[in-house]
Order: sequence, then structure tokens, then C-alpha cells
Amino acid sequence: MSDLRLIDHADWPAVHAVQTLAYPDFLHEPLSVLRDKQRLGPHSCWCARVDGRVQAYLLAHPWAGEDLPCWGQDGQPLSGKADQLFLHDLAIAPAAQGRGIAGRLLAAAEGQARAAGLSRLTLIAVQGAAGYWARHGFAPLALASPLPAAYGREACAMARPLLPA
Ligand SMILES: CC(C)(COP(=O)(O)OP(=O)(O)OC[C@H]1O[C@@H](n2cnc3c(N)ncnc32)[C@H](O)[C@@H]1OP(=O)(O)O)[C@@H](O)C(=O)NCCC(=O)NCCS
Repeated sequence: MSDLRLIDHADWPAVHAVQTLAYPDFLHEPLSVLRDKQRLGPHSCWCARVDGRVQAYLLAHPWAGEDLPCWGQDGQPLSGKADQLFLHDLAIAPAAQGRGIAGRLLAAAEGQARAAGLSRLTLIAVQGAAGYWARHGFAPLALASPLPAAYGREACAMARPLLPA
């Protein structure tokens, strides 16, 4: 049993704990960086409670142009008119994986992006998740410069157009 909601102030410690469970150390971002995503995307950062506690989240925010946001940094400005929803981080605690929760969070993001008039979803797949995203219609995205090594060797920028409903 799970329910989705926009992340509230009190949820952040639990969201940060999910990150610790879902990623290897080199992919952990400080809580300040995670929280800063909500500054850019106040209507597109969700968590999901599973069996009564937060065990999943999706942090996404509007973004503009061809250069994707930098990993591990807060305070990045939105330059220009947003044309995409950037999915910064989707993570499900291991105990809650395989129950369709990621799919529900992704559907919420898609709905929000459409409502905001954005034309595509973008992301950087890490730790072998490119296959997961490909199953959801994402394709590799050519960038002007290579991704920073901090993402790990398997990282891949990906995008999915949002066709009008
Ligand atoms: C990838 C992730 C978000 C999927 O969450 P989930 O809630 O288990 O996903 P769902 O239940 O909606 O979907 C599960 C399906 O996705 C598949 N899947 C999960 N991870 C996958 C991967 N890395 N590559 C391909 N398919 C994958 C499962 O095999 C399952 O397939 P099935 O429906 O045919 O059985 C979750 O495994 C996770 O949080 N991983 C750690 C953090 C991470 O890597 N996030 C993505 C960073 S870009």
C-alpha cells in the first residue's frame, strides 16, 4: 500500500535516508542539494509512503536548453523559458522496489510536465538504469560535452518527447 504526495518539509530526512539505501556512496548528494531541487520544481518533487513510511521519491524540475543541470550542485539558475522537466533523481528503497511505485511517480511527473506545457522529459541514467528508462520510452540524448566522471561509467543522458495528449 503506497501513497504519493508532494514532499513536505518534514519528509526530507526520510528522503535523504532513501537515497542512502538506493545508491552507492559515490552517488550520494548532500541534503542541501536534494532540497534545492524543490526550489526549482515546487510542484514536481514527490515522495511515496509505503507501509506507513517514506520509501521512495522523485525530484524533478523545469529546465531550459541543451545543457543539463550539474550533478551535486545547488543554486543553479533556470536560464530562459523552461522547455523540459528534468528528472533529477528517482529512487525507491530496496524493500519497496518492484511494486510499481517508480511507474506511479513517473506518471505524476509526466502529468505535471504536460500541465506546465513542457515538451520533453530529460534525465541522466546512472548505475545501469538506462534499461529501465528505455522501457519507459527514453532514448539516449547527445550532449555537446561528455558527462562528468562523477556520474560513474554507466551514466547516460536520455530524453523522451511529450506528445500532445
Ligand atoms: C530503477 C528503480 C527506480 C525502479 O523502481 P521500481 O519501483 O522497482 O520500478 P517499478 O516497480 O515501477 O518497475 C519494476 C520493473 O522495472 C524493471 N527494472 C528495475 N530496474 C531496472 C533496470 N535497472 N533496468 C531495466 N529494468 C529495470 C524491473 O525488472 C521490473 O520489471 P517487470 O515489471 O517486468 O517485473 C529502482 O530500482 C531504484 O530506485 N533503483 C535505485 C536507484 C536508481 O538507480 N534510480 C534510477 C537512477 S537514474
